[in-house]
Amino acid sequence: VLCVFLCLAMGYLLGCIQTGYIIGKINHIDIRNYGSGNSGTTNTLRTLGKTAALLTFLGDSLKGLIAVNAARYILIPQFGGMAHEATLWLVTGFAVVIGHNFPFYLHFKGGKGIATTGGVIFAFDWRLGLLCLLIFSVVTGISRYVSLGSICMVLVIPFILYFSSPNDWQLVAVGCIFTAMAVWRHRANIDRLIHGTENKLGQKVKR
Ligand code: G3P
Repeated sequence: VLCVFLCLAMGYLLGCIQTGYIIGKINHIDIRNYGSGNSGTTNTLRTLGKTAALLTFLGDSLKGLIAVNAARYILIPQFGGMAHEATLWLVTGFAVVIGHNFPFYLHFKGGKGIATTGGVIFAFDWRLGLLCLLIFSVVTGISRYVSLGSICMVLVIPFILYFSSPNDWQLVAVGCIFTAMAVWRHRANIDRLIHGTENKLGQKVKR
């Protein structure tokens, strides 16, 4: 129980480190007051440009990667995990996404957790991480909608977990929670996609 608590707390606190928000502050803005109001890579791209977006992507994905590895190689060996360790790696990753989406010191208003989810899946199994990146890139590249690429990426997560660890329903269930969270966070995007008003990749926001 202590180990699960430590993994969750460490994950949540790491997730709270909001790269996009910090880079916005360095540029004297609150990124959440611009564009889609999101603090993630896509909104940083349309508001502050490519370098800021790249840094946001690296920061947000790295915290997912770091948290899962810290759970896997430090906390679980040190404090003893539950019977099914791989599930705890993913649960730790989900805590990072929760921290990213709902940072306590920013009135729980953060991002949508896609770069972070990518980092988590990459840490879980780098081949699955690359597969996620491929799906995201292909759908975003063809449609020019980052949100559509993100949604397609999270929709396949339970399936790739199932095919990589057949009959491991615990992993698939945690994967479904990642998917549900990300789809819910994209509900405004889904509404805009349906109505044809979603922002396309490359659209800029005036500051
Ligand atoms: O990862 C977030 C992306 O899918 C959508 O971002 O700012 O267009 O809502 P945004």
